[in-house]
Amino acid sequence: MNNYKISEMISEEKVEARIKEIAEQINQDFAGESVTLVCILKGSIFFTTELAKYIKVPVVIDFMQCSSYGADTKSSGIVKLAKDLDEPIMGKHVILIEDIIDSGRTLSHLVKLLSQRDPASLTLCTLLDKPSRRVVEVDVKYTGFEIPDEFVVGYGLDYAQKMRNLPYIGVVEFENS
Ligand code: IMP
Ligand code: MG
Repeated sequence: MNNYKISEMISEEKVEARIKEIAEQINQDFAGESVTLVCILKGSIFFTTELAKYIKVPVVIDFMQCSSYGADTKSSGIVKLAKDLDEPIMGKHVILIEDIIDSGRTLSHLVKLLSQRDPASLTLCTLLDKPSRRVVEVDVKYTGFEIPDEFVVGYGLDYAQKMRNLPYIGVVEFENS
């Protein structure tokens, strides 16, 4: 691993305030319904739990895991499904929760997979988006923050499985040694 340092990009306060706004939007959009939050492991765990705390309509939380990255910071383009949902989603209002959208390959793959299961609706929600990196178009309804093309960690996001527990979003600056 190269040497690196972390600088704060989005504070814990800003992240959490924005998550509350998204929850409020979901409360309005799904008033009178119930929702299934699909947390994409592992990166979305912090976002999903924080968001779920402020959703007022009935919530079910389920998990799936896929990976398009090894220990590298660039996408391999290969999406593997490591863990599927526990429950069927047929007839459910599903909100797919991602930590960050980069190329769009992961979400586009999951959308194809989950739409085949006939949910009542399938809505995409991401904490972070790097629009300049998009390779595959995805239709995202709820976005926390659009960020420039920098490698970020914290609030669930990792660098080689580390730093997910930082309470803020930080930029990793790699120092060539
Ligand atoms: P995509 O399939 O290229 O859109 O990649 C999305 C996945 O790549 C996310 O779920 C993250 O796991 C990972 N990823 C993309 N950018 C970053 C980053 O800046 N920091 C940490 N993980 C990232
Ligand atoms: Mg991820």
